[in-house]
Amino acid sequence: MSLKVAPSLLSADFSNLREEVKRIEANGADWVHLDVMDGHFVPSITIGPVVVQSLRPQTNLFMDAHLMVSEPEDHIEQFVSAGADLVTIQAETTAHLDRALRKIKKAGAKAGVALNPATPAAVLEYIWPLLDLVLVMSVNPGAGGQSFIPEVLPKIAYISSQIERRSLNTELEVDGGVNRETAPAIIRAGATVLVAGSAVFKAEKGMALIGDLKNMQNVL
Ligand code: DX5
Ligand code: ZN
Repeated sequence: MSLKVAPSLLSADFSNLREEVKRIEANGADWVHLDVMDGHFVPSITIGPVVVQSLRPQTNLFMDAHLMVSEPEDHIEQFVSAGADLVTIQAETTAHLDRALRKIKKAGAKAGVALNPATPAAVLEYIWPLLDLVLVMSVNPGAGGQSFIPEVLPKIAYISSQIERRSLNTELEVDGGVNRETAPAIIRAGATVLVAGSAVFKAEKGMALIGDLKNMQNVL
């Protein structure tokens, strides 16, 4: 599977989101990663379905909605009708993961589960057929610009081996602290989608990083 890059708009200029999305698209991004925070599961409040809906006609990018919200079931349909192609929910936010994933699919989107750094991969054991994507959080959710937590590398490798063993097409996304320095180990561990926020929008040569990350797969 060729490596995909999903810049996170969390570190973009929120007064100019349309241009920011066009900029990442022009620089070779595959997906746009939308961080949804509710001020409850995580302290910050960020974007809601209206923002997704406003951006939908502005881009052809695959819209990857990462819900860091309590009771995600209540918001799934709204994000899908707003235009999200994929809805990922945090495993820690629902006692009914299987049901929530089925709800995402029924609404017409791809379904993903995100695991906090301390959440074991075992939670995926009986839901594999429902998973279009697993998102391994490599920082604690809630903010951009944090440092990569290297202890998640074995978890990425383990999940990658499970996907391979079961011959699934499930994407393995890694989110948090991804940059030029941390990416090689993450790619080697088996990630197929890299999220990068501050390294794309706030660092020097950030836009060039999108292409550089995609090429890294070939030189490792
Ligand atoms: C954190 C979010 C991330 C965030 C990553 O809770 O899920 O998507 O934007 O930001 P960086 O790439 O700066 O760590
Ligand atoms: Zn995210």
